[in-house]
Amino acid sequence: MKTLQREIISENPVIIAHRGFKSLYPENTMSSFEAAIRAGAHMIELDVTLTRDRKMVVIHDDTLDRTTDGKGWIHETDLAEIRVLDAGSWFDPRFKGEKVPTLEEVVACCGRRILINIEIKESAYEPEEFPDGIEQQVVSLIHSRKCGNQILVSSFRPEILFRVAKLDSGLSLGLLTEEKDAESIFHFAEKIDLYSWNPEAMIVTQGLVQKTHRQNIRVFPYTVNSVSEAKVLVEKQVDGIFTDDPALMLQGLAGFRQR
Ligand code: G3P
Ligand code: CA
Repeated sequence: MKTLQREIISENPVIIAHRGFKSLYPENTMSSFEAAIRAGAHMIELDVTLTRDRKMVVIHDDTLDRTTDGKGWIHETDLAEIRVLDAGSWFDPRFKGEKVPTLEEVVACCGRRILINIEIKESAYEPEEFPDGIEQQVVSLIHSRKCGNQILVSSFRPEILFRVAKLDSGLSLGLLTEEKDAESIFHFAEKIDLYSWNPEAMIVTQGLVQKTHRQNIRVFPYTVNSVSEAKVLVEKQVDGIFTDDPALMLQGLAGFRQR
């Protein structure tokens, strides 16, 4: 089994701050990631896609509309245009001036302080492989920062993971699946060496967790924001959870360990 940093991953459950400390800070911003680190989360999760000029930006949606004061498709906008936008005020005026971070910025700032789950968005997938495709750029960044053992690369799109594995078979990979796709994990686990299965929490059963564990794959369901729901999942022996409120989960699950 591949290893992320041992002392962190031995936490059970691993508390993964979904888009940072999303419940109290504007998602996928530096303030959200810093808050998650301060709260004691074990890992931060972020979303990455490409701009028109093929730079990696950390943002969840395919457009700028919801989480910035700009408008339009990210893949039709250059980084310089995105960087002048306000990515904080939509959440709360207190966060005015918050920027859409580049992936380089987040890894440079947080990479030595916390594990990072980089979710490569399906919107960045290109049927043809390019030297500056998102998979190549993510792997190059991880190599240049020498932080491979601190990064989990995930995607809903298996082709993205296949490409990342081809570029560096040592990286830890997580397959995301939505509600309808519970059994697809076992199909892909035969084709790719996965570190984790990151399913929508509703589809997790103890049987699926056990079957996944037998393949040496960890289970990290998303997105869990109630302590009671988290406890049910921990009883099903999941290895970690994605949450918008890492402080609540750390407090609520303290001392609650299934195994
Ligand atoms: O990685 C877990 C979760 O982030 C996947 O869904 O839509 O929040 O990116 P989404
Ligand atoms: Ca995500």
